[in-house]
Amino acid sequence: MRFSLLFAAALAPITALAAPSSNGYYDLFKRENLCNLKTPPGPCQPNASVTAEETAVLAYKFYRAFVVDGDPQTMFSLIDKDYIQHHQGYASGPGGIWSLFCSGRKIGSEASTSWCFDASTNMSYAQYSTVDRWRWVGGCVHEHWDTNEKMPPKEQCAKLPA
Ligand SMILES: *[C@@H]1O[C@H](CO)[C@@H](O)[C@H](O)[C@H]1NC(C)=O
Ligand SMILES: *[C@@H]1O[C@H](CO)[C@@H](O)[C@H](O)[C@H]1NC(C)=O
Repeated sequence: MRFSLLFAAALAPITALAAPSSNGYYDLFKRENLCNLKTPPGPCQPNASVTAEETAVLAYKFYRAFVVDGDPQTMFSLIDKDYIQHHQGYASGPGGIWSLFCSGRKIGSEASTSWCFDASTNMSYAQYSTVDRWRWVGGCVHEHWDTNEKMPPKEQCAKLPA
């Protein structure tokens, strides 16, 4: 959640808007901008039966939505109502970060970033210019940190089902 980075990423769709308006990219951007919603989509309903294997798949989906696709609908469908925020200056709860993500900003490509789900801790990670860490409970994102986080060693990261 680095501001400078998020603002830089926000310029990409604006550039696209300057292109001919019949371009499909414009429609995609329009579809993904949900800032007219006062409260975010979701929340995720925790389900105690969700397994670690299922959580790994959900964590990859969350990384894609947050970093690669800029898809606020999917991203917030995976955040629970009690989301605990450790980023200074932001309130807990999904509403506390909605304005940062509602416009569907993309942060990076899958090649330029990385992700991990560590089943031994139920933590997922996304690495771009910084590292974010989230704790998963019942198949939902429940808690977030982004201060001096480190990616776990690769061998600790779950492999997705083929
Ligand atoms: C909870 O998760 C389990 C395992 O994925 C699933 O079989 C079940 O349908 C889920 N229950 C609800 C209410 O979604
Ligand atoms: C991680 O979540 C699973 C359910 O998906 C749970 O059984 C397990 O106890 C949790 N592990 C930790 C370290 O919290």
